[in-house]
Amino acid sequence: MLIDSYDRVVDYLRVSVTERCNFRCQYCMPEKPFSWVPKENLLSFEELFEFIKIAIDEGVKKIRITGGEPLLREDLDAFIKMIYDYKNDIDLSMTTNAYLLKGVAQRLKDAGLKRINVSIDSLNPEVAQAIAGKDVLKNVLEGVEEALKVGLKVKVNMVPMKGMNEAEILDVLEYSKKRGMDIRFIEYMENAHAKADISGMKSDELLSLLKEHYNFEDEGFDGASPSHYYRMDDGYRFGIIEPYEDDFCKKCNRIRLTAEGYLIPCLYFDEAMSIAESIKRGDIKGAALVLKEVVRTKPEKNRWGGEDGELSSRAFYETGG
Ligand code: 5AD
Ligand code: SF4
Repeated sequence: MLIDSYDRVVDYLRVSVTERCNFRCQYCMPEKPFSWVPKENLLSFEELFEFIKIAIDEGVKKIRITGGEPLLREDLDAFIKMIYDYKNDIDLSMTTNAYLLKGVAQRLKDAGLKRINVSIDSLNPEVAQAIAGKDVLKNVLEGVEEALKVGLKVKVNMVPMKGMNEAEILDVLEYSKKRGMDIRFIEYMENAHAKADISGMKSDELLSLLKEHYNFEDEGFDGASPSHYYRMDDGYRFGIIEPYEDDFCKKCNRIRLTAEGYLIPCLYFDEAMSIAESIKRGDIKGAALVLKEVVRTKPEKNRWGGEDGELSSRAFYETGG
């Protein structure tokens, strides 16, 4: 079992398979980065899988494929199948923008994928376009329908932003509710790559807006999920992710692997260690040692709202959010 210095069990690995993305979300990658990681620096699926086996053997039970946009990488279903075939009871999920999902949902499901998280920041085509930097809504919604049809569980993520999509919070909630999909509102997290003038809605603002329309009760946190849950009268539950609150880190069970092989102990920390060299050498013990060291140095808290007030330079599209 992997246990950090604050007695948290680390059993959740997020694997970013590419930092490239076909969207330019304002809060994440408003412009194409100056340069992408050169293709030759990316770990192959076989190399990523070598590390994933180590992580599973050390106690990882939950794996999420992230990006960038994971569906930009070819043969993703084969990668998912490698993981599934190694241990079929892994909780295997993926975060995707769903733009390319329609054509591949069935194959992903057949390969062993169980769940996906999709960002839906607006149901208005123009607003969705303004946020994602291109006309995305039709493809995204078709992708979501297809995912539901083939039996993938779908969770919706929305980042509410003032003057941007705040008028659509209820629509996105109702859309998700109607389809039996969980929704989580994510407070905008400042970072050096995002567009400068974004003003994220805080959870108290969001809650007072929702209170005008629904009755709900505070259910608190559920397991290791970073989401604060609220249950409405009819039983439907929504979540709010508040990274600026201390509670966010208390039960954190996750570490992240980038497509280049950096293991990152915390989303907001710039520290990272690479497993690429050990994996390329076939040095399983070496890679396992790096994994244990990264878990050991996992910080107690993220630095959001910290005294130094510095902006994270680590891009969400590298670390997989
Ligand atoms: N703040 C909050 N959420 C973000 N995401 C990406 N960047 C940010 C940010 N700056 C979330 C999106 C998406 C997921 C991949 O990460 O909501 O659903
Ligand atoms: Fe791409 Fe997701 Fe970042 Fe949007 S939030 S730019 S879809 S990686």
